Amino acid sequence: MRVPDPVPSTSERSKWDVLAAPRDPILAIHQAYQQDPSPLAVNVSVGAYRDAGGNVHEFRAVRDARLSIAASSTYDHAYLPISGLEHLASQSARLIYGDDVFESGRIACLHTVSGSCALRLALSLASRVLGAEEAHVSLPAWPNHVQMVPMEALKLARYRYYDYDRHAVDIDGMLADLGKAKRGDVVLLQACAHNPSGADLKEREWRRVADVVQQRRLVPVFDMAYQGLASGDMEEDVCAVRTFVRKGINVIVAQSFSKNLGLYNSRVGTVSVCVADKVPGRDTATNLLSQLSWLARGMYSSPPAHGALIAAKVMGDDTLRAKWLLEIKEVVGRIGKMRERLRDELERRKVAGHWKHITQTKGMFVLLGLTYSQVERMRVLHHIYLTGNSRINIAGLNENNVAQVAEAIAEVVQNSKTPEQGC
Ligand SMILES: Cc1ncc(COP(=O)(O)O)c(C=O)c1O
Repeated sequence: MRVPDPVPSTSERSKWDVLAAPRDPILAIHQAYQQDPSPLAVNVSVGAYRDAGGNVHEFRAVRDARLSIAASSTYDHAYLPISGLEHLASQSARLIYGDDVFESGRIACLHTVSGSCALRLALSLASRVLGAEEAHVSLPAWPNHVQMVPMEALKLARYRYYDYDRHAVDIDGMLADLGKAKRGDVVLLQACAHNPSGADLKEREWRRVADVVQQRRLVPVFDMAYQGLASGDMEEDVCAVRTFVRKGINVIVAQSFSKNLGLYNSRVGTVSVCVADKVPGRDTATNLLSQLSWLARGMYSSPPAHGALIAAKVMGDDTLRAKWLLEIKEVVGRIGKMRERLRDELERRKVAGHWKHITQTKGMFVLLGLTYSQVERMRVLHHIYLTGNSRINIAGLNENNVAQVAEAIAEVVQNSKTPEQGC
């Protein structure tokens, strides 16, 4: 028997000598913030809701549910089934589609490892089971959308979404680009509080998008990471999905509870499919659930239980649910106030530029419209950390830092004018 050479051959060595993977554009900035010793440092990069004191927020209902679960004698660490916690999946499906559609038996809903795995499963179902070849992603998008599409064997295409001059949705561009998509292609849509722009479609615009999706037989995948956090109202924020469902379009929805329940590190989400028609003699919803479960088994096996128990308890208990929905309104109220404060601070300083859209967009984010070099100057000179496309998380602002952030924007706009196009 030949004894293997303990020293790897040159070709074996070079195979392992890989380049570093690209850094995540959002998390890299968050990391840089954590390493900044300046007491002035402000983090408006990562999309987590912070309260008026600058702390990552725990919802009161979540705390109550967490404490009650911790005190329970029936808590255990047994595996959940592949499809996760059934009670969470049904609460989530009711929240998305409403009780009537939920009870019609046309929904398959699986509890997942947060919104990210829900998205991977949605794309995986479209690609591996429904045979889609291409996925259309908004321009701009949450960077992870761009990363996930090829990972699920889909070709990436982009559709226009945001008009940087008008600081609003480019609905004509969006419709024109989706109008060229091929039958069976995936269109990835953000249901509300668009990341990174904060610019959402109005209901009548969603109806026009639904027309194109129906005519071209596209597969709509809704990413709903911020339900409730755009308007403060769960029903209003899901209007895009329900518009499609009412029109008889089959939809896939990736739901995250990271933001609207503040369960970021507990990783709670769902992926669901709502089919328009029941085929006689076939249980399509059950078959879709089995396909999603099969894909999930190969991806992460089964989801974690702890956060899901909390989420299901909050949504399933009338008192906790009412407390949660009230607090969502408070959170959205604080974000709205910070939007007004920032716009006001900029306009008062007569900073050159367009700031109206800060109060016209929704959810946590807004694109300021600064150039990359201005964003860099914000970081280096002022210790303010926003993403390279000048997205800021409004929920990272508070009374202690909003004037400081406005002052820094004023300084970079004044002193680093370049012909470079922002964003
Ligand atoms: C647009 C969008 N979709 C999905 C997610 C996924 O979130 P998570 O995996 O934390 O649930 C995020 C998180 O930032 C997001 O912004």
